[in-house]
Amino acid sequence: MSIEAKSPQARIESLLACMTVEEKVGQLGMFADMVRPFAPDVNPDANVRNAAEVLEQVRAGRVGALFNGVGAALGREIQRVAVEESRLGIPVLLAADVIHGMRTVFPIPLGEAASFEPDLARRTARATAIEATAAGLHWTFAPAVDVARDQRWGRGAEGAGEDVFLGCAFAAARVRGFQGDDLRAHDSLLATPKHFAAYGAVAAGMDYNYVEISDGTLRDVHLAPFKAAFDAGALTVMTAFNDINGVPASANRMLLTDVLRGQWRFPGLVVSDYTADMELVAHGYAADDRDATLRAFSAGMDMSMQSGFYAAHLPALVASGEVPMAALDEAVRRVLWVKEAIGLLDDPYRSLDPVREADASLPAAHEALAREAAQRSIVLLRNEGELLPLRRDARIALVGPFARDRDNIEGCWTLFGDKSRYVTLEAGLRAALADGAALEVVDGCALEAPLAGGIEAAVAAARGADVVLLAVGEPQRYSGEAQSRTRIVLPPAQQALAEAVAATGTPVVVLLRNGRALALEGAVRDAPAILVTWFLGSQTGHAVADVVFGGCSPSGRLPVSFPHDSGQQPLFYNHPRTGRPETPEMSEFKARWREYPNAALYPFGHGLGYGRIEYGATRVDAAELAWDGRLVVRAQVSNTGARAAEEVVQLYLHDRVGSRVRPVRELKGFHKIALQPGQTREVAFELDRGLLAFTRADGSHDAEPGLFDVWIAPSSAAGEPAQFRLLAPPHQPA
Ligand code: GLC
Repeated sequence: MSIEAKSPQARIESLLACMTVEEKVGQLGMFADMVRPFAPDVNPDANVRNAAEVLEQVRAGRVGALFNGVGAALGREIQRVAVEESRLGIPVLLAADVIHGMRTVFPIPLGEAASFEPDLARRTARATAIEATAAGLHWTFAPAVDVARDQRWGRGAEGAGEDVFLGCAFAAARVRGFQGDDLRAHDSLLATPKHFAAYGAVAAGMDYNYVEISDGTLRDVHLAPFKAAFDAGALTVMTAFNDINGVPASANRMLLTDVLRGQWRFPGLVVSDYTADMELVAHGYAADDRDATLRAFSAGMDMSMQSGFYAAHLPALVASGEVPMAALDEAVRRVLWVKEAIGLLDDPYRSLDPVREADASLPAAHEALAREAAQRSIVLLRNEGELLPLRRDARIALVGPFARDRDNIEGCWTLFGDKSRYVTLEAGLRAALADGAALEVVDGCALEAPLAGGIEAAVAAARGADVVLLAVGEPQRYSGEAQSRTRIVLPPAQQALAEAVAATGTPVVVLLRNGRALALEGAVRDAPAILVTWFLGSQTGHAVADVVFGGCSPSGRLPVSFPHDSGQQPLFYNHPRTGRPETPEMSEFKARWREYPNAALYPFGHGLGYGRIEYGATRVDAAELAWDGRLVVRAQVSNTGARAAEEVVQLYLHDRVGSRVRPVRELKGFHKIALQPGQTREVAFELDRGLLAFTRADGSHDAEPGLFDVWIAPSSAAGEPAQFRLLAPPHQPA
């Protein structure tokens, strides 16, 4: 039966009216796509062996979506079976984890957040969507919008760091980039903010662990980026593995129905994370598979990923009346509505064009963007004596296990990258040098182990060089899912290499590769110059060389705080005040550790460029902000250096007194500006009470009158504040 052309709603209702319960339940099932090889280098025989079973399920109308396969031709075959051989001809959604690039790989999301340029993230997401839809995909499980305040957790790499304001900006930008301006366009990729919710707040930074959290922090920190993503047009959301205060997110009615539907009026579909409904039994929240199905579905989870529980148990739950048919219909309606919204009911073969897939010009067009995104994600932590930028005719030793490495360039959650196009550090540096052959390259050690003679060779190379570029960091498998670490430090073999190379006295520039903030130690911490390079993707080598040789000034700023020590976790700049804050004068019996102050080694927002940036005083245009008024805050920012630079001018606020203890500072705005040598620019921010609002003690969300500090500063730990007073609403006494 074909889906005749009617109004969208009428077409959905007419479909629904003739669906059997099994067909309805079929729309709520998502399974790994065993028809299309996961990726060229994964064993296609294992995948294809199950293809017949999957196609049979598609033919029976039992599949709503498939995920993590690619390929337009086989995608067309899946869709042909769905449309022409199933009873109702409902197309299948084809999804995948396309997080930060498809064939062309961009920096990990945490790295891109360091650019403090949401529009750059929109552009890379758009390029990703173009490549992903060309590879036969309709839907990506991104952006991850989890706020990560504990760097022991490995999945901070997939998000935008520790700050909710920055997180909201990047969540919205990535959704707009993936989806584009027209959801029905062949290159629009359905976005999925994940993981709903508070996954970044897992206790002890241990993945999948429990979450104990106040309602205020849940709403103001962890839910806000999802709301930003939905406001930007996201039509799907993925549930999280963790519980929230004892109720697993994937069966959490407060989240999936009360907030999502009741408060936010979210019209789209909720999909579980991988077997998250099955895991309700392991959580001890469901007695058995049937109970897990009932609890997840009743809480508001529309689509079940991979467990098969909905197919196995929902028909019986509907027959028994435990799941009302109306509730089943509502979930199916949302799935069909999303398929309709992206044009799949009109054009089931949308985004399944082998000719477009074969067009190699698409990825090639994205190389320049990949290089730009990588350049602008790099953060210069330190540059003693202005060691950087280097001369192109300098004698350079490139030392470390990442020097020639191609396997740790893309970062976590990169399933489909074209590795043949990756530019290694060695390749990028050689291409940038006056005499590329002059670059001496020594691994010095393996990623996690010494190499016989490695340190000796590295020391010899260091002794013969003007400067060492020390390429050290985390193997990419140290971050991403299920990669929580107790000590966020370099592997010991790499630390030993750093100590030996530094001992030669040759100046060292650290090129750090990392998927989280790290506790830098010894010679790495003390190196005169340190560049945080995250995992930069396809154009790693060229982008690092561009910064190292001054082709561009580093302009990234830290989206996560770098601690003094691994023990300082969770560590985040916008922490609530305490009753015993440490002061420069007093540290006895104050909130701090024996070994370190309650502060970062390098704070959120920190980063240097090749200019010399100076800030004038923060000034407010008025001492008072009327309840419904606006207030402009401004400062002069100058580049007194000899080189052009870009500066991320940041706006922070602090609410002196609140009905709940307030953070010591909160980012409420940022502008990235270019400054030529000698140039001064005035940067202004306009405030209104919306920026001051929070979830108050009575659960309402608004600002509270009173005194505020405001900074325009280069980081979350810099600058002197100005003050202003928010006046009470006209009818309310101050
Ligand atoms: C994983 C991840 C999730 C991903 C999903 C599908 O376990 O938690 O982010 O989208 O499964 O691969």
